[in-house]
Amino acid sequence: MTIGIDKIGFATSNYVLKLDDLAEKRGIDPEKLSKGLLLKELSIAPITEDIITLGASAAESILSEKDKQEIDMVIVATESGTDQSKAAAVFIHGLLGIQPFARSFEIKEACYGATAALDYAKLHVKQYPQSKVLVIASDIAKYGAHTPGEPTQGAGSIAMLISQNPRILSFNEDNVAQTRDVMDFWRPNYSTTPFVNGIYSTQQYLDSLKSTWAEYQQRHKVSLKDFAAYCFHLPYPKLALKGMKKIMDKTLPEDQQQILKDNFDKSILYSQKVGNIYTGSLFLGLLSLLENSDNLKAGDKIVLFSYGSGAVAEIFSANVVDGYEQQLSTTRLQELDQRLPVSIPDYEQMFFEEAQLDENGNAYFSGYENQVYALTEIAEHQRKYIKVEKPL
Ligand code: HMG
Repeated sequence: MTIGIDKIGFATSNYVLKLDDLAEKRGIDPEKLSKGLLLKELSIAPITEDIITLGASAAESILSEKDKQEIDMVIVATESGTDQSKAAAVFIHGLLGIQPFARSFEIKEACYGATAALDYAKLHVKQYPQSKVLVIASDIAKYGAHTPGEPTQGAGSIAMLISQNPRILSFNEDNVAQTRDVMDFWRPNYSTTPFVNGIYSTQQYLDSLKSTWAEYQQRHKVSLKDFAAYCFHLPYPKLALKGMKKIMDKTLPEDQQQILKDNFDKSILYSQKVGNIYTGSLFLGLLSLLENSDNLKAGDKIVLFSYGSGAVAEIFSANVVDGYEQQLSTTRLQELDQRLPVSIPDYEQMFFEEAQLDENGNAYFSGYENQVYALTEIAEHQRKYIKVEKPL
């Protein structure tokens, strides 16, 4: 039995911040962002869009009514959750109308969480082959205005349906994980934005990549020549490019090195326009690769590097399934170009807005007509969501 990704969907907000505009306003050279970080745009979420609406939208874009009757586990990986107790997965389970006898919960370890969720999903389907598991990676990455991390913010969600006989990718049994207790990036409960040791975090990322990759190769007796593409966690694409260069095997034939480089370029296209979406970033890279590569074929092996600050890293691989392209979109880049550009003052107001609750814990929101799902109000401290009937 093969187990893997049968469907994969993506949702982001309808607003975009152009990084050339940000550079101009902050008085920095635009090339520092376009070439130094390899970023072009960021998705900006308004208060009515959170990890629950984005997660539900990503899932809605791929699920049939039959899937909703067959899913028996919903896992949401996030580090920007809306509640310390109630899991985002429970809200999403309800919004999507998934059959009631399902297990729904949230999982956390910075940007790494969705990788653990996939492994749990794989084990579950192995035990119950008729099961389908919905894994959602959903985050809004906010560092704050005028911070070094500001150009690496973003918002978005990836939804993956895990089943037997998957139609996109089948997982291999080769995961190698590494944990190291470091303070490179963390967000205490009392803070809405993370504390970051920026340069140290990049060193941890690269060193985790190098050492986990060495262990992976040694355990599984494989090398880069065995893979058609390498997907990385993408806090910003330039760091992944550094990672790619670090592990590139210069003894490979030129054409094979070129295929890996071309596929890397295809894997960063979406992130360059969306920014960091934490738990979903690696899988947004995977989606970008699958939807844009012109050389991937059935049986090709893709290796994935997951990294979550704190830190946990994991490397695992999956095989491309025959006909995979039929499950994917060909219009994603054009759709991203339809987001509404926001000015810097609008971004600063919109992205960092906090709910102003009255004395009874109520707040009302508007302006969500073009979303798929929306947070419409907080009523006595309870978040209320709707599915927008016909988004504009
Ligand atoms: P910075 O101030 O942009 O750093 O902060 P910089 O001054 O080193 O510049 C960045 C690059 O731009 C450098 O290139 C410069 O040379 C280049 P590099 O040397 O690295 O190749 N540059 C220029 N290029 C062209 N024209 C110019 C120019 N000027 C400079 N004129 C930093 C960068 C990453 C520190 C910041 O963005 C940050 O703090 N980001 C947030 C943390 C982060 O993303 N860390 C990544 C690793 S940790 C991780 O991946 C986990 C995470 O996703 C969270 C989680 O797990 O939950 C973050």
